Amino acid sequence: MTARQKIIIDTDPGQDDAVAILLALASPELEVLGITAVAGNVPLHLTERNARKICELAGRPETPVFKGAIRPLLRHLVTAEAVHGKTGLDGPDLPEPSMKLQPGHAVDFIIDTVMHHNAGTVTLCTLGPLTNIALALNRDPRIAPRIQRIVMMGGGYFEQGNVTPSAEFNIYVDPHAADVVFGSHIPIVMMPLDVTHKALTTRKRVDAIRAIGTPVGKATAELLDFFERFDETKYGTDGGPLHDPCVIAWLLKPELFSGRECNVTIETMSELTLGATVIDWWYVTDRPRNAHVMRDIDADGFFALLTERLARL
Ligand code: BDR
Ligand code: CA
Repeated sequence: MTARQKIIIDTDPGQDDAVAILLALASPELEVLGITAVAGNVPLHLTERNARKICELAGRPETPVFKGAIRPLLRHLVTAEAVHGKTGLDGPDLPEPSMKLQPGHAVDFIIDTVMHHNAGTVTLCTLGPLTNIALALNRDPRIAPRIQRIVMMGGGYFEQGNVTPSAEFNIYVDPHAADVVFGSHIPIVMMPLDVTHKALTTRKRVDAIRAIGTPVGKATAELLDFFERFDETKYGTDGGPLHDPCVIAWLLKPELFSGRECNVTIETMSELTLGATVIDWWYVTDRPRNAHVMRDIDADGFFALLTERLARL
């Protein structure tokens, strides 16, 4: 058997984060070294608790969960309760977790883990604002060349923004952190709204997950039922975009996605377009290519993979 891909999941759960965590924990190709929580969709005391709830739902309470940054580098925290509900995980009735949070800070865990594993063997999967990652890079820049890659959900270009007309939520919440990450020279695979808006939780797809018939299948369907209602109203679609699991799916089956290497620069100055991901898709500048930006997804293949994996938990 080939070695499992070692990953750290940095996240602000969030229903779609939760499904991404379940997908990772269900997949034998991946070794989840730890989950680091960040403030984003809801404040930190909820995101770290939600991460633990999901580990317990998956039957994996031994997964180390760490608490990270309580607010963005420079700005006040912007949250998204309108989308995710008051708890961030509205939908199913999940029990309070009994597994404990790990002692220590998420940023120290990221640094120690990257420094103690062989260079080029740890991938960071980022599903929320990039605050923890930027703090780790600023605190110990020696980690940058040792990180295998960052696979992130964030940004948008052809689809523009979802929280302002020009910015996607994860980047908008902490644009300064995103700026640090895109300037780090770490290989980046980026899942922007251009991809995730094609991964819709249609009725048929959610029903297939519910039909798994296990507690995980039922809870996931309930998470998605709650999560999609906001975007269905907003976009008039059958189902909402299932953003964060695209990150994990790329690690498992990269052939489901297509995109190209280009330069991504973050707008950090403009009030009007703060947090915009300026993507040089058409190569009209000579700015260096710093990310593999995805644009398309085989959505049926993605949901087939997700459903098959969730059935294993
Ligand atoms: C991103 O923002 C959050 O609301 C979701 O969890 C996802 O990570 C989509 O813009
Ligand atoms: Ca998220």
